[in-house]
Amino acid sequence: MEYPELVRIDTDGSRQTTSYHCAPPRALAWRHLRARTGTIVMVNFTILAGGYTSFVASYLFNSDTNALTLLNQSPTGPNPSWISLLPHKHILYAINEDSPGGLQSFRIGENGLLSSAIDTINAEGNTSAFTAPLSTGQVAIVNYGSGNALIVSTEESDPAQFTTEYSLITFDAPVSNPHMVLEHGSEVFIPDLGADRIWRLAESDTPGNWKVQGQIDQPTGSGPRHIVTRGNTLYTVHQTSNTLTQQRIPPAPNGTSTTLIANISILPPGLPEGAAMAGAEVLLAERSEHYAESFIYVSNRNTGVQDPRGDAIAIFRVEPRLSLVGFVYTGLQQVRGMQLGGPEKEFLIAGGVAGDAGVIMLKRTEGGRNLTLLARNAEIPTRASFVWLD
Ligand SMILES: *[C@@H]1O[C@H](CO)[C@@H](O)[C@H](O)[C@H]1NC(C)=O
Ligand SMILES: *[C@@H]1O[C@H](CO)[C@@H](O)[C@H](O)[C@H]1NC(C)=O
Ligand SMILES: *[C@@H]1O[C@H](CO)[C@@H](O)[C@H](O)[C@H]1NC(C)=O
Ligand SMILES: *[C@@H]1O[C@H](CO)[C@@H](O)[C@H](O)[C@H]1NC(C)=O
Repeated sequence: MEYPELVRIDTDGSRQTTSYHCAPPRALAWRHLRARTGTIVMVNFTILAGGYTSFVASYLFNSDTNALTLLNQSPTGPNPSWISLLPHKHILYAINEDSPGGLQSFRIGENGLLSSAIDTINAEGNTSAFTAPLSTGQVAIVNYGSGNALIVSTEESDPAQFTTEYSLITFDAPVSNPHMVLEHGSEVFIPDLGADRIWRLAESDTPGNWKVQGQIDQPTGSGPRHIVTRGNTLYTVHQTSNTLTQQRIPPAPNGTSTTLIANISILPPGLPEGAAMAGAEVLLAERSEHYAESFIYVSNRNTGVQDPRGDAIAIFRVEPRLSLVGFVYTGLQQVRGMQLGGPEKEFLIAGGVAGDAGVIMLKRTEGGRNLTLLARNAEIPTRASFVWLD
């Protein structure tokens, strides 16, 4: 079962035996189903989780019973700390956060179980930290430790097979620690927390040949780590300054405006003495049927003296202007990765890379301005990144 299973529940509470295997986009299928039946539906979601181990784990989340179950663990190369899904193709890409780093592909089977690696390539750099498929059929990977990135083409007939056409991109800065890849229009943005800059890449005349065409400079020493774009607006979480910033994306290729529209601390109040915080993930949930407003959720990692409440997720309203709503404590240590899922992104799965609190499933409540714990599964003590299967 690769698609989420939808089960109809009648208004009198009785459960219909009919189940649906709905093709993506899931949100549309949900709306269609609601319109047709006027009833609530229960959904089983499968979520894959990477980490600093030699496997990727698969979890099942049942949003009717709020049960979060460990399904299986698939062997991979070392440290698949970041994983990404090729939508609708049942293909998972994973990095090997190692020296040298690697990029692997897998087919996703029943219950999220992975095939053995279909293809593995050397990342041509160290400490690979992130990978993402591009709409071009290529796969991008950044090497945090060596300040470079690869954009790899895949076989048109099988995107699990990498071709030998690589663009190795080296970032021209005294210190470079690229940490993410985000496709924005025809550009690729790469936040570099060592260089305090977001690189703008474009594919030149020869397909497969990506080059830096510009940069969006960030405050010195801020450490831009992860980004999200919304129209022409860029939101950046800074690892070192522990801030969330907002700015207009300067005109391509290399507009120079660096004016910040907003710059807000993501540090929760009452941190213990000796806490050492490092901003990590930023996620956007747009307004939808049951969520009247758009929100941004930011994770943070305490690498020092722990807060007994664990790391907090900071919640921001997006409109009318970016503003902090509050913090929700997770009981997790060092939330490096987290992901929204569900037809309205109503669920958020998170894990820590330290401690033994496992993974948690939260629900966006109070219209999105709060998060409520639904389930925890601590069978595997740490997890670093997540993918919701479609
Ligand atoms: C990768 O790390 C090794 C040591 O772990 C070092 O010798 C090598 O120069 C590094 N390579 C790059 C491309 O930075
Ligand atoms: C972009 O502009 C900056 C100056 O703001 C310059 O230092 C940099 O070299 C330019 N990048 C490219 C690729 O032209
Ligand atoms: C952003 O805000 C932080 C405090 O939250 C401050 O330390 C930093 O200097 C600000 N940076 C800019 C560029 O305004
Ligand atoms: C958020 O939800 C939790 C329940 O999960 C509740 O205990 C808490 O009071 C709520 N926070 C706010 C600010 O309403």
